[in-house]
Amino acid sequence: MNTSEQGVYYITTPIYYVNDKPHIGHAYCTVLADVLARFHSLFGQSTWFLTGVDEHGQKVEEAARKRGMTPQAHCDEMQAHFRDLWPTLDVANDDFIRTTEPRHESVVQEALQRLWDRGEIYRGEYEGFYSPRVEKFFTEDELVDGKCPETGGEVNRIKEANYFFKMSKYQDRLIRHLRDNPDSVRPESRRNEVLGFLAKPLQDLCISRPKSRLSWGIPLPFDGDYVTYVWFDALLNYCSAVGLYRDEARFGRLWPSVTHLIGKDILTTHSVYWTTMLMALELPLPRIVAHGWWLIDKTKMSKSLGNVVNPLSMKDKYGVDSLRYFLMREMVVGLDADFSEAAFLKRHNYDLANDLGNLANRLVKFAERSMGGVVPEPGDGSGTPHDADLRAQSEALPGRVRELVGELRVEQAVETTMNLVRRVNRYVSETEPFKVVKTDPARAGAAVWAALEALRFALNCLWPIMPGKCHALLKAIGAGEPVSRLDDLAWGGLKAGSALLLEAAPFPRFDVPEFQNVPVVPVGSKEADSAAAIAVAGIDPAAKVEAAPQAVAGISFPDFAKVDLRVGTVLQAESVPGSDKLLKLQVDLGEPQPRQIVAGIGKAYAAADLIGRQLVIVANLEPRKVFGNLSNGMVLAASDDAGPAVLAPGRLIPAGTRVS
Ligand code: MSP
Repeated sequence: MNTSEQGVYYITTPIYYVNDKPHIGHAYCTVLADVLARFHSLFGQSTWFLTGVDEHGQKVEEAARKRGMTPQAHCDEMQAHFRDLWPTLDVANDDFIRTTEPRHESVVQEALQRLWDRGEIYRGEYEGFYSPRVEKFFTEDELVDGKCPETGGEVNRIKEANYFFKMSKYQDRLIRHLRDNPDSVRPESRRNEVLGFLAKPLQDLCISRPKSRLSWGIPLPFDGDYVTYVWFDALLNYCSAVGLYRDEARFGRLWPSVTHLIGKDILTTHSVYWTTMLMALELPLPRIVAHGWWLIDKTKMSKSLGNVVNPLSMKDKYGVDSLRYFLMREMVVGLDADFSEAAFLKRHNYDLANDLGNLANRLVKFAERSMGGVVPEPGDGSGTPHDADLRAQSEALPGRVRELVGELRVEQAVETTMNLVRRVNRYVSETEPFKVVKTDPARAGAAVWAALEALRFALNCLWPIMPGKCHALLKAIGAGEPVSRLDDLAWGGLKAGSALLLEAAPFPRFDVPEFQNVPVVPVGSKEADSAAAIAVAGIDPAAKVEAAPQAVAGISFPDFAKVDLRVGTVLQAESVPGSDKLLKLQVDLGEPQPRQIVAGIGKAYAAADLIGRQLVIVANLEPRKVFGNLSNGMVLAASDDAGPAVLAPGRLIPAGTRVS
């Protein structure tokens, strides 16, 4: 496992195949890498962010032939689709690597030569089935109905002499590495998936292709009749781009801190092929983070289905900041998410137009009208409990964001920040500066100052997500440039007298038929207050109108909101001695320590069957002793004649997620 230097953060995306034009899945991964790099730089680390394109292999050779071009000319043209897209999405990569560059090819050849010299590569006979779409070999057993198990596409039977990397000899070391290093593959479920894959014997890896069959690749340095298998070549980009064998000082500084961000479909190539290649090359091992897929109507995007979302058209229609916000807020790193324009517009309209944009707009316009267009004086600090609460929530934000981003819970970091924005909205309705200004302008000014100061905290924490808009909004509220370290955010930093200059509504609402009935609630009104409270609880404000009659008949919403229901993952389970009904569970609720909960479900569930399952937990029930065991929470279950049946989310949900 790598022993990353605290101060360095090197992040990579996969290198994209040049044949396809970039779609929203590629944009997601690259924007996420950009967001992580920006956050880590705000945490005070020295960051390096690499992306690029994968240019060799059979698919590229064939695509070029179909277009009547040389593979190189085809690649030169296609790589621009990626290279040119990133700046338009505010992606600030430090480097862009192409696998046809000499700086890469020479390193691949040197790595191969070293492995050959050390006997890590041997020549043998290969027989198997080749899937050109994923450029991988499969055994007969692995085929599904005679087709590629990954794509369902055609495979070709191939028998030929080839070169092999002794991957199988690293199986035990790889298993130990994965077991001993929880951070080696994230999230946890993906690490378990790799360990599951390693339960079967690992084969050696065929790393060559005869030139007679494929010429578009890097020649093997020890046999000119062969080129290098595209994955062996591609994976080395992560090292060649930062100076392996060419600039050892630079390589030694960056490499030990590397994080590879990848999609779940290329987990094996990274966590098995690449990690064992690095073992053979005697290099530090990386941290791998696998994200899920963006789906359209629960189906993977694909060109053949014609459901591919083009990031450029989304950006042109709705703006880069809203697109980045949606991608980061909507997907839980590691899980799949559905992409729909309706979901996109909902986020844009509720979070950005209503909660954030409207707030900034109203505060600045009010200060322009009533406070000379500058940031008002902060007041003498003798504020109300609302002031103390606002300040405490603002000051806690940077630390919490740092923790959440460190755990890759990016969507939670965004949500926590938006909760502060909603808190500011509530603060404005609690302190009513728009009214108070008539009788006590100093108090109104102090309230506006505090609201703007809290907004400054939120905007700085949102800057990695929406660098362009946050920068503009910070200027608009008189806060100047974004901070370069989150540690520099200190309450009181907003200077009275700074000019305010908001020119237009920062996030204009997009009205589409299904949203026309949703009222946009002005900041500072009583409605805003309740809309914010509902939004905090995670309930769609649009549902408010329909929910009201029920609330009158039963308990009120605030009463319901007092019950803290959470998703929990069972880590350990055992029966309680002396009881056939009670089980003692250790449950992960997303907190630093698991909770012990005693549940009366032992007649219906064997302890071992519960491990790994997700349950719904009442998390804020007073702890009590059951059969001498402390129980800190309650498992929800519905019972009938057959006994209790536990409640569980319909799909995997991060532990600790609120149920509402
Ligand atoms: N060239 C290889 C990677 C080599 S890395 C040394 C490759 N390229 S790819 O262009 O096919 O895919 C690149 C990335 O895009 C993968 O991580 C893949 O998971 C991701 N995505 C492709 N479709 C996706 C979605 N629908 N959603 C999210 N990401 C997905 O594989």
